[in-house]
Amino acid sequence: MNTSKFIDLPELLSARGNVRLPGSKSVSNRVLLLAALADGNTVIHDLLESDDTARMREALCQLGVEITPLDGGAWRVKGVGGVFPVKRANLFLGNAGTAFRSLTAALALGGGDYRLSGVARMHERPIGDLVDALRQLGAEIAYLGEDGYPPLAICPAAIRAGGVVRIRGDVSSQFLSGLLLALPLTGVETAVELVGELISRPYVEITLAMMARFGVRVERQGGQRFVVPAGSAYRSPEIVQVEGDASSASYFLALGAIGGGPLRVDGVGENSLQGDVRFADALAQMGARVTMGPDWIEAGAPESGALRGIELDCNAIPDAAMTLAAAALFADGPTTLKNIASWRVKETDRIAAMTTELRKLGATVEAGEDWLRVTPPAVLVSPPQGIDTHDDHRLAMCFSLAARGVPVRINDPACVGKTFSEYFARFAEVARTVPVIAIDGPSASGKGTVAAQVAAALGWHYLDSGAIYRLTALAAQRAGIAWDDEAGVAKIAAELNAQFVGDSIRLAGEEVGDAIRYEAISAGASRVAALPEVRRALLFRQRLFRRAPGLVADGRDMASVVFSDAQTQVFLTASVEVRAQRRYKQLIEKGITANIPLLSQDLRERDLRDSQRGTAPLRQSEGAYLLDTTNLSIAQAVALVLTWSKAVR
Ligand code: DC
Repeated sequence: MNTSKFIDLPELLSARGNVRLPGSKSVSNRVLLLAALADGNTVIHDLLESDDTARMREALCQLGVEITPLDGGAWRVKGVGGVFPVKRANLFLGNAGTAFRSLTAALALGGGDYRLSGVARMHERPIGDLVDALRQLGAEIAYLGEDGYPPLAICPAAIRAGGVVRIRGDVSSQFLSGLLLALPLTGVETAVELVGELISRPYVEITLAMMARFGVRVERQGGQRFVVPAGSAYRSPEIVQVEGDASSASYFLALGAIGGGPLRVDGVGENSLQGDVRFADALAQMGARVTMGPDWIEAGAPESGALRGIELDCNAIPDAAMTLAAAALFADGPTTLKNIASWRVKETDRIAAMTTELRKLGATVEAGEDWLRVTPPAVLVSPPQGIDTHDDHRLAMCFSLAARGVPVRINDPACVGKTFSEYFARFAEVARTVPVIAIDGPSASGKGTVAAQVAAALGWHYLDSGAIYRLTALAAQRAGIAWDDEAGVAKIAAELNAQFVGDSIRLAGEEVGDAIRYEAISAGASRVAALPEVRRALLFRQRLFRRAPGLVADGRDMASVVFSDAQTQVFLTASVEVRAQRRYKQLIEKGITANIPLLSQDLRERDLRDSQRGTAPLRQSEGAYLLDTTNLSIAQAVALVLTWSKAVR
């Protein structure tokens, strides 16, 4: 699992390939509960392993259900035949809405003393409509915090099943699903009547299909009434295969549409139970080329090149609709998503969070209580502080798509573990990133000259990373901050107002190309570069140089840290004597006085400091070509780097 504070995604040139999807969260949590309640043992294949399903598994184990991992990733659940053996438990359900809602219903109708709680956000997510419905059946449920919200206390009660239960379905479909899943525990015929509109109806279809798989057929009477027949009881179908997650598929399908494709997801298709497969239709409406088989879907770029902005009622695809908002960054006009009020009560207020984060990328975003309109910017901008994910897995996955236009930093990427812990690994497998030639080496080895010429020959961008450390040293000096004041210099680095335009290097608008080459600043650069906080503050700034069609970057840690995935890595060096002579010539040409023995001495000291420091020391990385230029001309060195880079292009 990725536990770092952020992940930096390089700009993508294209995306294509195949992705095998993880199991569906909605199906997995329903199957776990049904298998637990059923008569008999169930072997479950391709069950999703994620935070939400882990919460469900843990809760069921606490309730006395035996769940055993088998070889090959399958699980065996020993059903309890409708009655949980443990009658008193304190269950923590994290932020797993599906687990919380369905267990509330099953425990309230099952009888026993239970406490159900979750993370702070779970306690802000409503559950009142479900509690009201369960109380109609005699359930004893108390709110332990605010009325209408978890945490809950459930007490044993005389359940009066039968008759009609009314339930609202306009805040979350999980209330109706939870109630339906629990009603067979009563054994009595009960009718459920919906009050008002039902949102996210396809999720109720998953519930009904899974109940049928476990032997209970709910009778539908029109769209608003469901009857659970008398004598219903869950029986294990023995083996259940969980299909791939259709919401997880949406990110890759959108990636195929904006990244050329073809990108194919395996595990969901025409035969899927999940409503979110209809995301494929929405993408096709935006112009993407979409094809579908029984258990796969493939997406590619529109014939015309660009996606079209659309206006869409997203009631049936609430989760995947978020992906449309991200894909909308690449459309030729505004995209309006309507009927998405449920976004407000999910892992975070998704309308608010999407608005904030899309704006950081330069998009114009308008939003109301239940709608969102995204107008793409002419040019995407990448926020230096990164995209915040608001503890919402879907935000993290959605914003990875922005990398098709710009390098992007995603904060707290580990939140994808809620449903798809391997997301960024799968993403990297299908994404073709902007290529990098990383040239590292000691001071005055000539790597700057070679790197700039290689970049010019290829028509690629060029990053002189040493100049960024030099600018930081100069800016610190000007602000009166000592070069060893780590926090002070790191702040200067984070706020560095630097521009690189052609050959010109500017600090706060002032040309400083020569000023940063003075020996005093060279020494300062070497000092500030040894401070880990400073290096951290400058990391993403350097990565932002990696833009299409390619980047040649020179420095000390280009291959080891900043661009560790660089396709071509070169360690360029020369003897100290030759380097001192080169630096001498450079300085004299600029009218700066110099002396060779002093320069040699200085280079030796700097080499030592650069190679012995604790953070990102200068050294040849494993995959790097060694280029000793002591006896080579610049042209010869450039030709060699071009040859090496051609081998991987
Ligand atoms: O390459 P240069 O001489 O312009 O670099 C100036 C200083 O910055 C040098 O002492 C090492 C440091 N530096 C670094 O630590 N990491 C880089 N990627 C580039 C330079």
